[in-house]
Amino acid sequence: MDRVLLRAEQIKQRVHELAEEIGKLYEGEPSGLTIVPILSGSIIFLADLIREMPMPRMRIALVQISSYGQRATPGETKTLINLTGDIRGRHVLIVDDILDSGGTLRRVQSMLSAHKPASIRTAVLLRKPAKAPSDLKVDFIGFDIEDLFVVGYGLDYAGLYRNYPHIGVLKAGMMG
Ligand code: IMP
Ligand code: MG
Repeated sequence: MDRVLLRAEQIKQRVHELAEEIGKLYEGEPSGLTIVPILSGSIIFLADLIREMPMPRMRIALVQISSYGQRATPGETKTLINLTGDIRGRHVLIVDDILDSGGTLRRVQSMLSAHKPASIRTAVLLRKPAKAPSDLKVDFIGFDIEDLFVVGYGLDYAGLYRNYPHIGVLKAGMMG
């Protein structure tokens, strides 16, 4: 790694705070909450977040979205796995690793709206404010980061480094 931006301990602390904030918002909601993680980058964040959120009526429905190539045309996306569960009339929280150009979240938000959920909110661990479009609604944000390509804690470069426990920037030679 060229530089570690966020250490595992820091991430853990922030995820705990987010879980509390989100938990409070949906507490007492009789129909519970359906979490929709966007595969695959969100899996580590998801796993940590939901275990900090003791909610008796939580469900998970998956979607998988890919960006075309490695940042080929920013914002261009494709659905690889369509929603795996029924969200009609349910409260939904979309969970993703990072908000970059916003193409991914825009696609998922509009895809899920078509299923007529009771509500849709969005949580991301990271946001690059330099790139994120201002009209895209995101309700929970872990950290704002510089406009750098980061890996670790679920985020990959060409499928690798998702298991790195911290979030960092790769050394120049490690990319392509
Ligand atoms: P967007 O559609 O441009 O907002 O990009 C969102 C998706 O691209 C995320 O779900 C990530 O999978 C991926 N992505 C964007 N920036 C990074 C990064 O810095 N590192 C790793 N993956 C990224
Ligand atoms: Mg992703």
